[in-house]
Amino acid sequence: MPQFNDTELTAAVVKSFEETPDPRVKFLMEELVKALHGFVRKTDLSFDEWAYAIDFLTRVGQKCSASRQEFILLSDVLGVSMLVDAVNHREREGATETTVLGPFYVGEHKPMPHGTDISANLTGERMFVQSRVTDLKGKPLAGVAVDVWHADDDGYYDSQRPDYETAGPSSRARFITDADGRFFFRTILPCSYPIPTDGPVGQMILQTRRHPNRPAHIHFLVDAPGHEPLVTHVFIEGDKYLDSDVVFGVKNDLVSRVEKRTDQVMPDGKSAEAPWHLMTYEFRMKPGQGAAPKPMMAATEDA
Ligand SMILES: [Fe+2]
Repeated sequence: MPQFNDTELTAAVVKSFEETPDPRVKFLMEELVKALHGFVRKTDLSFDEWAYAIDFLTRVGQKCSASRQEFILLSDVLGVSMLVDAVNHREREGATETTVLGPFYVGEHKPMPHGTDISANLTGERMFVQSRVTDLKGKPLAGVAVDVWHADDDGYYDSQRPDYETAGPSSRARFITDADGRFFFRTILPCSYPIPTDGPVGQMILQTRRHPNRPAHIHFLVDAPGHEPLVTHVFIEGDKYLDSDVVFGVKNDLVSRVEKRTDQVMPDGKSAEAPWHLMTYEFRMKPGQGAAPKPMMAATEDA
């Protein structure tokens, strides 16, 4: 029977995966073992710390539900989500920058007419968002599905509300670009918000003296045929958390100036109660292929 000491154990565990049929899975398992063992060795991890880690991950799993994904949150606050994004988008060639999907994407919705107020039932400062989707040369892309979602004036996403299943979507919609690549909608000015702090991830953030806030933003998922799906946010210039986003998701290219307007008409010619805000942002798509991400909600009991 082989006996393994501190130095031989890693090689033995790596070797145990040598019959793995899929070479990529084999590589990932080997590197995972090496990284985990390296962490334990470097830190001289105590039994108490190991047990705490097991309990912490258990609590993260138990906090997941059909509408809450605590593991994505953990990945986000540790910078893993942005690192995965970075290594998969090293060369953008002038295309709009990407950022994290986040835990609040719940999937596509029925397309809405341009100009729809997607936050009609919410209080908040009114905003008109006008946008255009083009290729790298500025040629408009028509018929492109664009999913948008953002937090309300209190910093919560609709899916965080207890009555979400019955109340339906809010501040969340799909638009299809017109012949000129354009789409536009009404909503409220989003505000900065804290990630949920009622679970183990939020507790870790507070216990380590980090702040839990994200700068104000709108999420966009742009899925144009013949182009790489674009998962990104547009942030609001001037937000005090732009330099310290708890999930490290801000890029300069994604910060938009939002104009405060006092005219009585919005860009689509309909009357408006002043003041209101105008966000203008264009998306440049990178040629390529790929499947748009699906919501990564926790498995339900019968799934
Ligand atoms: Fe968000």
